[in-house]
Amino acid sequence: MNDNNFGPLAALIGVWKGDKGSDVAPTPDNSEHIPYHETLTIEAVGDVTNAKKQHLWVIRYHQVAQRKSDNEVFHDQIGYWTWDADQQEVTQSLTIPRAVCLLAGGTASQTNGTVKLNVSSKSGDQHWGIAQTPFMDANAKTTAYTHEVVVDGDTMTYSQSTMLDIYGIEFDHTDGNTLTRVS
Ligand code: HEM
Repeated sequence: MNDNNFGPLAALIGVWKGDKGSDVAPTPDNSEHIPYHETLTIEAVGDVTNAKKQHLWVIRYHQVAQRKSDNEVFHDQIGYWTWDADQQEVTQSLTIPRAVCLLAGGTASQTNGTVKLNVSSKSGDQHWGIAQTPFMDANAKTTAYTHEVVVDGDTMTYSQSTMLDIYGIEFDHTDGNTLTRVS
């Protein structure tokens, strides 16, 4: 175990709540806009070593989003963030219960106490790729993903774009929210 070096990920640890969620999702004939609230629980995991030389610091999260209209949980996501201080590299690996998972890679910056993370992933990319079932590949394929998180003290804002090949079009499925750390 080395000295604690969660780096920029340290700013994310905690339980976050936000009610300004905005989702744009595909429908067979167009799109729908769904306001949501969510709870995002982020915990420290610790450090891991790969091949005796790569050292990663790791946090894990669980995101639960509920429609404002009826409180129904309509999105559930789990994942990890990792930080490699030597390479200054951040990764997000995530799974959603549509049998889709992805690994996104990118960078982190810290300016005047504000932490910003940017990661992306693309279907077919050798490293930062997307895995999905044959059904999803044929009918509702996730082709690309970009995600930005900004943490300023106890306020977190994220925005993401998930490109889908669905209903015969390329659809930009977007989500964003502003959350407050509650513990
Ligand atoms: C806050 C985050 C997200 C929310 C609230 C959300 C919500 C939704 C909603 C409402 C739909 C429309 C279909 C339905 O009502 O079930 C949908 C479709 C879909 N989402 Fe998301 N989503 C989120 C993130 C993601 C991410 C990160 C991915 C991929 C990694 C993803 C992949 C998909 C796919 C493939 C579909 C098409 C499924 C279909 O309509 O048949 N979503 N999402």
